[in-house]
Amino acid sequence: MPHLAIYRKYRPATFEDLLGQETIVKILKEEAKEDRLSHAYIFSGPRGTGKTTSARLIAKIADCEKREKDAEFRKKGEPCNSCRSCLSIDEGKNLDVMEIDGASNRGVDEIRNLKESIRTAPSNSRFKIYIIDEAHMLTKDAWNALLKTLEEPPAYAIIILATTEMEKVPATISSRAQKFYFKLVPRDKIIDKLKKISKTEGIKISDEALDLIADYAEGSFRDSESLLDQMVSLGDKKIEVEEIEKAVGKISFDKIDVFVEALMKGDASSALKFVAEISDNGFNLSQFLRDVIQHLRRILVLRTNPKMEEIFKKEMMAEHLEKLIAQSKNFKQAHVTLIKILINAYGEMRYSQFPRIPLEVAIVEGLEKVKVG
Ligand SMILES: Nc1ncnc2c1ncn2[C@@H]1O[C@H](COP(=O)(O)OP(=O)(O)OP(=O)(O)O)[C@@H](O)[C@H]1O
Ligand SMILES: [Mg+2]
Ligand SMILES: [Zn+2]
Repeated sequence: MPHLAIYRKYRPATFEDLLGQETIVKILKEEAKEDRLSHAYIFSGPRGTGKTTSARLIAKIADCEKREKDAEFRKKGEPCNSCRSCLSIDEGKNLDVMEIDGASNRGVDEIRNLKESIRTAPSNSRFKIYIIDEAHMLTKDAWNALLKTLEEPPAYAIIILATTEMEKVPATISSRAQKFYFKLVPRDKIIDKLKKISKTEGIKISDEALDLIADYAEGSFRDSESLLDQMVSLGDKKIEVEEIEKAVGKISFDKIDVFVEALMKGDASSALKFVAEISDNGFNLSQFLRDVIQHLRRILVLRTNPKMEEIFKKEMMAEHLEKLIAQSKNFKQAHVTLIKILINAYGEMRYSQFPRIPLEVAIVEGLEKVKVG
């Protein structure tokens, strides 16, 4: 059997399973319960947070045969996922649901076809649904053509735009649609889902490794699931944090912590040795410095306002947070200057042919200040 990518296999089949987008789910479910879907939607927000998934859910709800027959079931506000219509949408074979890729040829032919196709009634469903993905790529002509359609859509049509760049959607279009902003999702939701997938698939993985995957994904379910997938293909061995570090070039909390400890003590020689090691091992130095700055910033915030602990709890493992709290007790004014110097170095590194040098210079310069302060 061919391997089915995790992110496809675990795409939510109901609004109930769409995590971290509670407000959106609540409204869309309500519309579904009352059977009053809108004729146009815009789903915007960061990658891998549920936009395409939600568009397909709307399509299924609109054309679900069980919903049409069973008034009691309709009140659930979900698709049945087992009727002919639901199944054919999952397989991408439903003739009344068209997925249009705004990125291909920037939508020129696609929107022309849409204008043509939208004139004829659905072949064997209630609604004809057009999902326009990557809508921000559409040309001006494509937008204009779409606008004409949105001004007077036939009663059987539903148009759903999905985009990561809402600001590129013309106001004339967006004012004619219901708009939903998808959020980056909290890491605990990502970790919970990865744990469930691992359990179902019999994947062995350490908590530290899951933690690093969630950090790396930065709020995107898809990125987290793709990375887990990539790790699984390495074999049956238990997945440990070192493998994730190598795969994504991002260093785990514990190592960043050791480095920051050296910085805070003003130990330049250990810090430089550390940089040499990670550079030799091929890690991305910009990513590393970003994580170091983030680590120091959290210490600074905790020193200034210990109550921020409550917020950081949602962003990291409990053991990691404890380490930060301990370090915040040793944080001094000179460390603020150090953070500033590191931020400058980060900017320089991104344009430098030799990213290691601005980092090393910043360490030496910054730690001079720590000693004096
Ligand atoms: N809110 C969510 N809850 C649970 N899983 C999710 C959620 N959002 C995304 N996923 C997972 O990520 C995969 C990709 O999601 P989706 O295609 O909906 O992302 P998207 O927002 O359209 O991203 P892009 O902008 O990159 O197209 C899904 O198949 C699913 O496994
Ligand atoms: Mg998408
Ligand atoms: Zn159905």
